[in-house]
Amino acid sequence: MNTLLITNIGTLATPAGTAAKSGGAQGEIRTLRGAWILIEDGVIAQVGTGTPPACAGETLDAGGALVTPGLVDAHTHLVFGGWRQNELGLKLHGKTYLEIQNAGGGIQSTTNATRTASEETLTEKARLALDEMMAFGTTACEAKSGYGLATEHELKQLRTIRRLQQEHPMDIAATFMGAHLIPAEYKQNRKEYVRLVCEEMLPAVKEQGIAKFCDVFCEADTFTVDESRQILEAGLRCGLRPKIHADEIEPIGGSVLAGEVGAISAEHLIVCPPEGIKSLAKGGVIACLLPATSFYLGAAFAPARAMVEAGVPVAMATDFNPGSCPCLNMQLVMNLGCLKYKLTPEEVLTAVTLNGAAAIDMADRIGSVEAGKQADLVIWEAEDLNYICYRFGSNLVRNVIKRGQIYTKAAKGGLS
Ligand code: NIG
Ligand code: FE
Repeated sequence: MNTLLITNIGTLATPAGTAAKSGGAQGEIRTLRGAWILIEDGVIAQVGTGTPPACAGETLDAGGALVTPGLVDAHTHLVFGGWRQNELGLKLHGKTYLEIQNAGGGIQSTTNATRTASEETLTEKARLALDEMMAFGTTACEAKSGYGLATEHELKQLRTIRRLQQEHPMDIAATFMGAHLIPAEYKQNRKEYVRLVCEEMLPAVKEQGIAKFCDVFCEADTFTVDESRQILEAGLRCGLRPKIHADEIEPIGGSVLAGEVGAISAEHLIVCPPEGIKSLAKGGVIACLLPATSFYLGAAFAPARAMVEAGVPVAMATDFNPGSCPCLNMQLVMNLGCLKYKLTPEEVLTAVTLNGAAAIDMADRIGSVEAGKQADLVIWEAEDLNYICYRFGSNLVRNVIKRGQIYTKAAKGGLS
């Protein structure tokens, strides 16, 4: 058996349980001082305080530091060709996200770049992103297709994700998002594109068993509420649980739909109206909020506090993508969760661990530090939770432990 004992943990901070937390429970964090964690074959065997048990295997001294669960980034568009730094100038000249998209930039331009990229190129690019995410403390993530917008290229993206699931230490949940945009060649025939998604892409995804979730960009100028419902219901018939990009720019009804179709999560929710919050609560939908996107778009911030008060479990993720959020740092997401959503550090920790895990249906095995869960942890260059929400712009990770394997950040300080 492979054993690892982590000793001398100054503070262990973790939510507890195997399901998303809402309301007052979102801020209930278990805090142990002077703790140790015993890991056997990549699984947490025991957590305690005081004198640690004798261990025949490896021992790691945490040096009095803070330990939390590994961070879960429950919303990323991980696989894409190219970048879109050319859009920065347009943004600075006042062009909005939808104006850039409607002028042929945005998702369509990344689609063009993704279609011409080989599976090999996409894999190597996404692998580097996963490495960087892990260095910032992320140990599990979601990854969407949605830059292929044609059966062949959507499947290419999903195969890339499958390959990385096998080759990379990160746990990755795959989401099919063929309904990310109506591609240029179907602009005059959107009905036919929706048919293609429902009748050709989704059955192919089902047949290959290559995704767990189906997501739709329900937005003005993208997919209407009716089209989104049609696609999510077709996804359900193919065994894919619904997710939905809702109320990111205009409140056209996506959050209400999320509750109606029983989505596992609704994403963005920047302009979520009160009836949307009600529908999320009623439908047991997790709100997956993306504050770095609000920051990057210069948009408002989702009404996170109202959601917590309404009993909606709140998760937070990066939305890493080449357009609205070219950022994969979950520590920045935590800062914004406190500063912009006014959530407490405890609520934020639950949002980026257990609730994120629940949003990708992995809360039974990750998202908290408890016996029986996978040993995915972060040892921080910090002594308490407040510190990682307070400092920003630095990488405060000391070690990442992934399934009991130790990864160490290169020495602190300057260049050598
Ligand atoms: O979540 N809103 C839709 N999808 C992404 C942006 C994708 C892109 O701009 O390339 C988002 O913000
Ligand atoms: Fe997104």
